[in-house]
Amino acid sequence: MKVLVVGSGGREHAIAKKLLESEKVSQVFVAPGNDGMTLDGLERVEIGIFEHSRLIAFAKANDIAWTFVGPDDALAAGIVDDFEEAGLKAFGPSRQAAELEWSKDFAKQIMVKYGIPTAAFGTFSDFEKAKAYIVEQGAPIVVKADGLALGKGVVVAETVEQAVEAAREMLLDNKFGDSGARVVIEEFLAGEEFSLFALVNGDQFYILPIAQDHKRAFDGDQGPNTGGMGAYAPVPHLDQAVIDQAIETIVKPVLAGMVAEGRPYLGVLYAGLILTADGSKVIEFNSRFGDPETQIILPRLTSDFAQNITDILNEKTPDITWLEDGVTLGVVVASEGYPLAYEKGIELPDKTNGEIITYYAGARFAENGKALLSNGGRVYMLVTTADTVQAAQEKIYKELDNQNTDGLFYRNDIGSKAIKD
Ligand code: AMP
Ligand code: GLY
Repeated sequence: MKVLVVGSGGREHAIAKKLLESEKVSQVFVAPGNDGMTLDGLERVEIGIFEHSRLIAFAKANDIAWTFVGPDDALAAGIVDDFEEAGLKAFGPSRQAAELEWSKDFAKQIMVKYGIPTAAFGTFSDFEKAKAYIVEQGAPIVVKADGLALGKGVVVAETVEQAVEAAREMLLDNKFGDSGARVVIEEFLAGEEFSLFALVNGDQFYILPIAQDHKRAFDGDQGPNTGGMGAYAPVPHLDQAVIDQAIETIVKPVLAGMVAEGRPYLGVLYAGLILTADGSKVIEFNSRFGDPETQIILPRLTSDFAQNITDILNEKTPDITWLEDGVTLGVVVASEGYPLAYEKGIELPDKTNGEIITYYAGARFAENGKALLSNGGRVYMLVTTADTVQAAQEKIYKELDNQNTDGLFYRNDIGSKAIKD
């Protein structure tokens, strides 16, 4: 069969590469993809993620069995609804189900209604009321734009003044446009963060190995929030009891809740959690795979991913198996300056082979040849599996030492939390 992946980042590279490993899959197309992916035999289609009618026409003309949708904004734009209306299968939530991600306020209402543990909060569109709430609650406190803001609409404020300033920028200065026309202000939760993913159809779900992302740009969790600078899975110091509790108190009730709301969930559910003294609490739901978590989770899948997705789409029980031993760890290499302004067009090191996988995000071929050039904030990611976090770090950082990363940067401490604890 032939399948289509929608998106262009490292996450989509990992999804598409895993699908192509299936004996049942002859071709994997990625729209629009990036040139780095073609080094793994993936085929780019020059159609953007919001061009639903062109994507549908492509899928029909090429006998695509089903489409896997990567990015949140495509889901929020109703891509799965449009495919279904055209009689095509797509793995991802409907616009209504994806509201769990595209409106933080909606997600909060669902959590309150179905008793899912999360930070106490208030939602405001009026600045004076938001300010009064911040002053009343005190700091630290977290201010979030209600809508999608490319992971940048969250301010963890250490002081009341910072929080008021963040609310002012969102509500009065329109820093995030419509996404910030409402803000959710919530209690600061202290504890260790982790990402829990499930493959879902309605109330049927399958849990993936838990992962830990590194959102800050620089070592020691310093610097601005990014899309994610590296990750590893599983998280050796968070035990099965933590996962089981999160499944019972979070995954099951939210999926049952979405069914009860008439918005049954299909696709990947991503719960961003903090393990507090009172158990895991939700900081956010996302309606898709995480980036960079996907790149370190999918290499651990030992079953046929394409068959697994086919089965879930058909409400059959998939046979999903994972590598049981070791840890998979990945380090993102980004353009200097990211997440703020950065240059493009830096020549990238050769793709790795063998034990270290290279996943490309922002990469394109030079016009005059085969050199691969940087073309975005996060550029590529190196991923490997080893017996321990330390051994995986050693392999990756040794490789990075040998690469020319002028004009690029990466964190030197991905996974170090797992070693210290
Ligand atoms: P989000 O975009 O919602 O994932 O938030 C970005 C980051 O802000 C998270 O990864 C957390 O590190 C932090 N964060 C968000 N909400 C809270 C909270 N209620 N308490 C503590 N940290 C938070
Ligand atoms: N890794 C964070 C995200 O995908 O939102």
